[in-house]
Amino acid sequence: MWLLIHRSGKTYLAPDRATFNTEFGVVELKEGPTVSSTGEPFLVTRPSFVDLWLRIRRGPQIAHWKDLGLIVALTGVGPGWKVLEVGGGSGFSTLFWWYLVGKEGKVVTYERNPRHLKVLLENLERLGATNVKVVPSDPREEPPEGTFDLAFLDIPEPWSVLDVVSEHLRPGGFLVSYLPTVEQVKQVESSLGEGYTQPSVHEVIYREWKLGGRTRPLSSGILHTAFVVVSRKIK
Ligand SMILES: C[S@@+](CC[C@H](N)C(=O)[O-])C[C@H]1O[C@@H](n2cnc3c(N)ncnc32)[C@H](O)[C@@H]1O
Repeated sequence: MWLLIHRSGKTYLAPDRATFNTEFGVVELKEGPTVSSTGEPFLVTRPSFVDLWLRIRRGPQIAHWKDLGLIVALTGVGPGWKVLEVGGGSGFSTLFWWYLVGKEGKVVTYERNPRHLKVLLENLERLGATNVKVVPSDPREEPPEGTFDLAFLDIPEPWSVLDVVSEHLRPGGFLVSYLPTVEQVKQVESSLGEGYTQPSVHEVIYREWKLGGRTRPLSSGILHTAFVVVSRKIK
């Protein structure tokens, strides 16, 4: 696989072959700076994790990167962390945890829908995330083993798995629920009990700006995706 970067910032993923057609002409696939058949400058290089991750196959609704970035800032999840995820879905968040925790870390994800599971497994394989443990079930039916630093619940009813997840979250560990509606947020809040801190609730609104002679924000952005609800286990 190759990544072609045009000077406009536009990028293309190209399979391993001799040339690739773009709207800026044909590009020879040889590593390094080059010029297309119409004289446009390109860089041909290998894709990074992010280049591939942003283009994974979409099945069910993915967790948005703007929200995943916030979770990193709020929890500090990084190399060596153990992450338990319920709601593997398309694997977008799964792959992000996998990338962040590195070889010393561990990611276990639950996905009970066979159709979504297929997309998840394909996407994990595509990015080489073969050491992610995928459990094709609900954690109440097949509980996890060991303890985790972060539990990420990207399912409509996180309170339904709270007991089993809590048994495997270390004291001080983070419970993050990712929820589109306030009703769900309130239900999580009332389900947490004494074992957890009062949750904090966050929403990220994202807007990109257009550079050039008339620099201004783009007229549309990414507004509501889901609330990020963060609590720490204290018992
Ligand atoms: C919104 S999607 C998850 C998206 C995923 N986190 C991503 O970023 O690509 C929610 C997924 O949770 C799964 N799910 C819902 N409840 C579940 C449960 N109790 N146990 C396991 N999977 C569940 C659904 O089948 C669905 O695929």
